[in-house]
Amino acid sequence: MHGKSPGPEERIAAEVAAGGPVGFDRFMEIALYDPDGGYYTADRIGKHGDFFTNVSLGPVYGEVLAGQFLEMWEALGRPGDFTLVEQGANDGRLARDVLAALAGSPLDGLGIILIEPCDALRAVQAQTLAGRRARWVRSPDDLPELCGAHFSNELFDALPVRVVRSTGDGWTERFVGCRDGGFFWVDGPLSGEAAVLTAGFPVRPAGFTTEVCARYEAIVGPLAEKFRSGFLLAVDYGMSGESLLAAHRREGTLRCYAAHRMESDPLAEPGHRDITAHVNFSQLARDAGRAGWRLEKFADQHHFLVGAATRMLLEMDGAPDPKRLGPLKALLHPENMGRQFHAILFSKNADGSSLSGFRHARDADLPA
Ligand SMILES: C[S@@+](CC[C@H](N)C(=O)[O-])C[C@H]1O[C@@H](n2cnc3c(N)ncnc32)[C@H](O)[C@@H]1O
Repeated sequence: MHGKSPGPEERIAAEVAAGGPVGFDRFMEIALYDPDGGYYTADRIGKHGDFFTNVSLGPVYGEVLAGQFLEMWEALGRPGDFTLVEQGANDGRLARDVLAALAGSPLDGLGIILIEPCDALRAVQAQTLAGRRARWVRSPDDLPELCGAHFSNELFDALPVRVVRSTGDGWTERFVGCRDGGFFWVDGPLSGEAAVLTAGFPVRPAGFTTEVCARYEAIVGPLAEKFRSGFLLAVDYGMSGESLLAAHRREGTLRCYAAHRMESDPLAEPGHRDITAHVNFSQLARDAGRAGWRLEKFADQHHFLVGAATRMLLEMDGAPDPKRLGPLKALLHPENMGRQFHAILFSKNADGSSLSGFRHARDADLPA
């Protein structure tokens, strides 16, 4: 152990000492979210942090999303009680950019609810959103009944996952053990959760490793109960289940980041690095569907933004604004952020077929 600060390392070690190896989801939960030193108890994103997201490229992304929320409001018949909800807001910058971009529109002055369980991040968000109409709840269960839109950027790829490995004719699970302060992998029979999530998996060669996430449901389920009508828009790192299980992806998608470098060992220094795994959008669609959401569209970020930013691009025709154009290119370009991210749209008692963001959606089918 590195002894930098007490917290996640000691906590995981104590759990292993008490009950034996823990699932990687538990390791990840403590490493990222332990209130005492978990990685996500502070703002870690952007130039001075460990990695960039769409949001750190500047207000353009929020401006584009604001256009989508206006279209959602239109699609819902312009309800007077339209509410925006963001989850996983980190420092609150995206919420601020969206609300700022709505100035002068029919949704000028709209309020927002942030779902934030972490008190420290809530305080940072309150500062960023000072002077705006913002409210906070700790989880989707605490929301009032509402009509509107829930959105998130890289929320689902930060949820704890279990790690599974093929034996050639079945699957085992990778648990985390601890000896002399060091963490190591311990392979064992699948937990109940991993057994359910791997049930439909094709046979893969021995050693093929991937991740499964049982936590999507805890988000989309309560949201479906709280939304009378509206949309759920998630933009995230990830792909379909079929692509995640493609033969060449034999090492899985678990990644760690510190100081803008990808680190190789996910078990090293818990609490000091980001840990992330690609979202399985097929699984997310199944969980959301069971909860009562209707899958509208799925598109890579490139196609999503080409549609959603059409008006902005036309406005800049002949009068390019470098402050917006540079970040927009990075967000759009297939070799930059355009292909790595996908946008998925769900609806409830609403029709999202008119949304410009999904006009060019290529990935309408979401193979299992
Ligand atoms: C990869 S960061 C993305 C932050 C920000 N949306 C962005 O794109 O820059 C993931 C965020 O999701 C938050 N998060 C994870 N699980 C959450 C949950 N159940 N409810 C609310 N936020 C959550 C983390 O605290 C973290 O701030």
